Amino acid sequence: MTAAKRIGILTSGGDCAGLNAVIRAAVHRAAHYGWDVVGIEDGTQGLLARPVRYVNLDVNRVDGAMMRQGGTILGTTNKGDPFAYPMADGSKKDRSHEIIGGLRELGVDSLIGIGGDGSMAILRRLAHIGGIKLIGIPKTIDNDLGITEMSVGFDTAVAVATEALDRLQPTAASHARVMVLEVMGRDAGHIALSAGIAGGADVILLPELAWSVAGVADKIRRVQAGGRNFALVVVSEAVRTMEGVKAQQEFTDGQKRYGGIGNYIGHLIAEATGAETRVTVLGHVQRGCPPGHNDRVLASAFGVAAVDLLAEGKSDRLIAWSNRRVIDIPIEDAIATYAAVDINGTLVKTARGLGIYVGDA
Ligand code: F6P
Repeated sequence: MTAAKRIGILTSGGDCAGLNAVIRAAVHRAAHYGWDVVGIEDGTQGLLARPVRYVNLDVNRVDGAMMRQGGTILGTTNKGDPFAYPMADGSKKDRSHEIIGGLRELGVDSLIGIGGDGSMAILRRLAHIGGIKLIGIPKTIDNDLGITEMSVGFDTAVAVATEALDRLQPTAASHARVMVLEVMGRDAGHIALSAGIAGGADVILLPELAWSVAGVADKIRRVQAGGRNFALVVVSEAVRTMEGVKAQQEFTDGQKRYGGIGNYIGHLIAEATGAETRVTVLGHVQRGCPPGHNDRVLASAFGVAAVDLLAEGKSDRLIAWSNRRVIDIPIEDAIATYAAVDINGTLVKTARGLGIYVGDA
């Protein structure tokens, strides 16, 4: 007989497409074992509230329509580390015991946490202190979590960025312009690289590879010399300026977030080549859309596997995708391994093989 009887599930960190598909799959699999699932609202925020904010989930509630929806029906947060919680007076407080108390109030002994590396590190500490069985499911459009080949949300984000290039190309050709597309990805250039290849970019700039104005301008001039009147440039948000700085903007909450490198590069291209240049910053459009079929399949496989792991009595494991199958690995190993773009890997070679400028070799 298995140990888990009532499972808590939460989404944590930035949202992405496919989160609802994970929740749906976990609820279906839990029903197979006769277990209850409670959805915790707004990540750990729901566990800090009294009464705890949660919703009972059953198979009638989690239908196929929900799987098609972007976002997360549970809500999420990418703020408020419970071990150093920002208080109204500006101080930081350890509120981890309140979260653990919240889990006890819910009567759950197992937790499925859907998140990226930051969330996994926090949930792991909480689960350890609270004696809760934790299974992690990787999600992030950045696809930067170690070991898993794919995290939920990445494929859809790439599809959105590719579609953006598909839409920019005709208008670029109509006006004989260079179009710069700034995409998300934090410190990893996976979205830029995949979308740039799929969307027929001429230049792809990644945080992992040094670039130069001369290199970019040379590529654009060669495109022009070949008789094509437009060019497409994809820039990952954490690409460094010529001064070696990552472009950031300070928000009203005092936090800095990446943004602005697209405009910076657009100006440089216009200056260096004389080409009329326009810049599009894709932003959160990459996160808030219905998941594509790959993310629906991945999310479904991950949700089922997470519950199966609990049924096997396992804990502190992260579900991962490797070689076309689901595997599970210690959460610790996954968060210790940052998955940046492999600059000697297949996709960088492919881009160069296609004549795309991806930085100075
Ligand atoms: O980590 C996901 C991500 O979308 C990054 O690609 C991006 O830099 C960041 O989150 C944006 O965060 P926020 O939702 O706080 O604006």
